[in-house]
Amino acid sequence: MAKTAKSKDQNAKGAGAKAVSQSGFLRGLQNYGDPDFSVYMRRAFARSMGYSLDELKRPVVGIANTYSGFNPCHRHFPDLVEAVKRGVTAAGGLPLEFPTISVHESTLAPNSMKFRNLMAMDTEEMIRAQPMDAVVLLGACDKTVPAQLMGAASAGKPAIQLIGGPQMTGRYREHRVGACTDCRKFWTEFRAGRMQAADIEEIEGKLVTTAGSCAVMGTASTMAAIAEALGMTLPGTAAIPAVHADRTRAAEASGAAAVRMIQMTLTPDRIMTQKSVENAARVLLALGGSTNGVIHLAAIAGRLRLKLDLERFNTLSDTTPVLAAVKPVGNEFYMEDFYAAGGIGAVLRELKPLLNLDCMTVTGETLGERLAAEEGAWVDRRVIRSAREPFEPEGGLVALFGSLAPNGAIIKRSAATKSLFERTGRAIVFSSLDDMGARIDDPDLDVTADDFLILQNAGPRSAAAMPEAGFLPIPKKLLAQGVKDMVRMSDARMSGTAYGTIVLHIAPEAAVGGPLALVRTGDRIRLSVKDRRLDLLVEEADLNARRAQWEKQTAALPERGYDKLFRQTVLQAPEGCDFDFLRAG
Ligand code: FES
Repeated sequence: MAKTAKSKDQNAKGAGAKAVSQSGFLRGLQNYGDPDFSVYMRRAFARSMGYSLDELKRPVVGIANTYSGFNPCHRHFPDLVEAVKRGVTAAGGLPLEFPTISVHESTLAPNSMKFRNLMAMDTEEMIRAQPMDAVVLLGACDKTVPAQLMGAASAGKPAIQLIGGPQMTGRYREHRVGACTDCRKFWTEFRAGRMQAADIEEIEGKLVTTAGSCAVMGTASTMAAIAEALGMTLPGTAAIPAVHADRTRAAEASGAAAVRMIQMTLTPDRIMTQKSVENAARVLLALGGSTNGVIHLAAIAGRLRLKLDLERFNTLSDTTPVLAAVKPVGNEFYMEDFYAAGGIGAVLRELKPLLNLDCMTVTGETLGERLAAEEGAWVDRRVIRSAREPFEPEGGLVALFGSLAPNGAIIKRSAATKSLFERTGRAIVFSSLDDMGARIDDPDLDVTADDFLILQNAGPRSAAAMPEAGFLPIPKKLLAQGVKDMVRMSDARMSGTAYGTIVLHIAPEAAVGGPLALVRTGDRIRLSVKDRRLDLLVEEADLNARRAQWEKQTAALPERGYDKLFRQTVLQAPEGCDFDFLRAG
């Protein structure tokens, strides 16, 4: 008996079981009905990795590594992880890298959006279940940063976002090129018959030439900016190119910051608040950022009982100038130019009178304190304008409401053709992506440049799971006539790198019987960006008759697995397309 008692005492002292069981590597012990045995088992396996007992007493910083052979945008992550580890170790922590699923735009079927919530669930549960005191979230490609912020918000441990950073541009003959605004520009030329197959094949090899996320202000760069505006990254780090040495230094500094966040108990709910969500919306608008940013920001907010209300979004848009001209806004600058011009800090300083400066950031300083420290920093005004001389006096995105979109739709006016903003057009309807693919280039398609192209059944609950198909192709016969833009509408999303007079995220979507499902070819639709309106000009009696006839175009509900979960629980675009059971209650 005496021997057993002594042994227990030694174990308890060695592990400090009762004193430290709520932190570090002894956090979240399994329950075998014998707490000391739990410590003993946890440490036995930890020691098998070669850690000393002293190391195991340090605060643990998890590093959510989303490196994947299927994710070209993240191919530099092994180097960044090593830099994060240096920072954590130097600050007195124990860095432990762990994998989560990785979501890339072009390598997932049917589309990456379908897997953002799965990645958010993976991230949340691994942060919660594993013994870490804080986490560094390493993401870059479009869906990865929102998924990580959603997961971290729900997990509730101190978290810092480390952005992977954008690609550098490449060269095609005399052109500077970058994914993927230029991808679309050249492809449109090819479809119009102004480029040959050999040319497009050559361009294909020049568009993406370094590691990192797309080189323009697409969704990835927009989400990086949102993360910094929320206060979830270190100041000035969102736009650093992936292969720049500053990016590696930011990784090291993020590791060290994570250790300090443990000491400050700086959890995501102290940083991401209703006020910081509005700051992030301001930055999104000032950048003319990706329309996807609206969905992702709503989803992040929803994890913390916060809201990105589209009516409020319009109010913010009315008073937020467009300050940056990074493709697809403008036709000249890329993310590497934006970083060199001053980055997100330069935008935030110009927006200062409009921002909530008392918001906390991952450094433990408020946004106001951060911006005061940066006062007077140099800015390249060709890329980032002052608030006195903006590119546009109002925000780059606006929500539309009306009989075609009772719960809202989004248009990116900063990347659209202004002459198309106030008009009534004839609807040319495609009932699905397959239908559009089959008919869009039919020489007999009855369509003119004044018509509105309408795509149905491409929203979140459709079988297509809301792909980035909102950039509806202009019919070849119109391209051949020199048409470069026309009004296009759908319940789909659009890549942040795309451009055109395109109305997206129409809600409720067609697949759940929203008014979009009732539109027929030949109907008249009125678009007014000025009035924020989108109206289907069909008599109510006719709509009621059509509603009675409406049948779901979507395939039957999948019988099992993630497909079934997705289709049963995904919310509409204004709620961020999160799963209903993942939002904060
Ligand atoms: Fe990864 Fe564009 S494909 S950011």
